[in-house]
Amino acid sequence: MQSNTFPGLFVGQNVITLPQVSSTNDYLKDKLSKSTPLAEGTVIMAVHQTAGRGQKGSRWHSDPGKNLTFSLLLNPVFLNPNHQFHLTVAICLAIVCWLESLLRIPVKIKWPNDIFIEDKKIGGILIENILKGKQWKSAIIGIGINVNQTTFPDGFKDKTCSIRHFLHQDGNIQELLSELCSHIEQEYRQLRDGSIAQQLARYKTYLYRLGELQPFWIDGDVKVNGVLSGVTDNGRLLIDFNGHMVDFDIKEVGFVFE
Ligand code: BTN
Repeated sequence: MQSNTFPGLFVGQNVITLPQVSSTNDYLKDKLSKSTPLAEGTVIMAVHQTAGRGQKGSRWHSDPGKNLTFSLLLNPVFLNPNHQFHLTVAICLAIVCWLESLLRIPVKIKWPNDIFIEDKKIGGILIENILKGKQWKSAIIGIGINVNQTTFPDGFKDKTCSIRHFLHQDGNIQELLSELCSHIEQEYRQLRDGSIAQQLARYKTYLYRLGELQPFWIDGDVKVNGVLSGVTDNGRLLIDFNGHMVDFDIKEVGFVFE
């Protein structure tokens, strides 16, 4: 049964755990394309993801059984498809608030949706939308959070961390999934209830390197120093170049150190 009225807890009430799958996002997309009935809030969790996908066509590496790698089905039919960023904001806030309550240290959002602790990436999000005409039908929320993995492939070693780095003991994957799902539900309800202005304001306070002068790549080839100053309501990054404010989308700008 599909439900958009949220009578009670629904995020993560139906968890399908797959021992091995190429990508949980692809698995869920395939099920939806075949009209398999799946309740909103269903979670597809992978023990081993063999071809996990990340942002901008990258790969998402995760040692089998060590981390949270899952996709969540939401039906944000109440949102204008042009406001996809609002869903990103709600999911980022859920992850950040969950991690801060768990670890008791500051957690940041590296625009637009990387989750960072102490200059290292702990997790990421890949949201893929399914539209019906101009209306939103479903959103596949792919989430990868490093939990118990402590060694990472070359090229990721110095820029990646996990929950274990801060807890100094293994986390229970099932329990962590359940806690994260309740944070997602809380933020998603607020989004549905029209709290986007407050959520955007909270999102801005978590921005990694907010207010700092640093180099950015512009259009992939020019390196320019600017101050990361916030985001617009539709998710464009605001950079202040000597008092001249310019906004960018994800294809136009990048952090120099990534
Ligand atoms: C990123 O930061 O690049 C986004 C990473 C998203 C990874 C998750 S793991 C579960 C889900 N399935 C995928 O193939 N990708 C997402």
